[in-house]
Amino acid sequence: MIMIVNTAASVMYELSGYGYDTGMNESQMPMPEQVATWIKQLELEKHPEGGWFKETYRSSETIAVAGLPARFDGDRSFCTSIYFLLSGDEFSALHRIKQDELWHFYAGTGLGVHVIDKAGHYTQKKLGSDLEQGESFQHVVEAGDWFGASVAQDGFALVGCTVAPGFDFADFEMPGRDYLLGLHPQHSDLIKRLTR
Ligand code: GUN
Repeated sequence: MIMIVNTAASVMYELSGYGYDTGMNESQMPMPEQVATWIKQLELEKHPEGGWFKETYRSSETIAVAGLPARFDGDRSFCTSIYFLLSGDEFSALHRIKQDELWHFYAGTGLGVHVIDKAGHYTQKKLGSDLEQGESFQHVVEAGDWFGASVAQDGFALVGCTVAPGFDFADFEMPGRDYLLGLHPQHSDLIKRLTR
């Protein structure tokens, strides 16, 4: 049973006895019940880049650092995978990692994956189930490209993100707005939208 608790400043979702503050006021708070249900059922937690996640797979075997490209600074799991959820005004802030990331669409409305590649070119790939409208079930973001994600104002999406070698926050960079504006001033609108 999900209880929505309004406080003066923000909206708390009360999930079976423990609440978390969404940090949003009510007018910014279109989180559909489906989203709250998934957060609870899938035991999702807030991700530092925005949105919600849960690691669902981490291979038990590791690749020694000697067998990895020099950009990796330690041993890594063979592979990891997460659930990732975005809703409404939430976004995944621009970041990059050292390995390719394979995105899988599971449910909800479409999700835009925004990429600035190493040549500075911007592309948006739409993940979703409406293939007629150009959406795809899967998309790969290449290692080292800057990327983030968003959903439509009243949209939400549950996706998966799989990486090999496995994810490690040592391979994750999420710089501030000014740094990215300095690197790619031609994409200032996107950078202002997808940084904090
Ligand atoms: N594990 C924790 N965060 C992430 C992420 O952003 N991507 C992937 N693939 N795994 C993660």
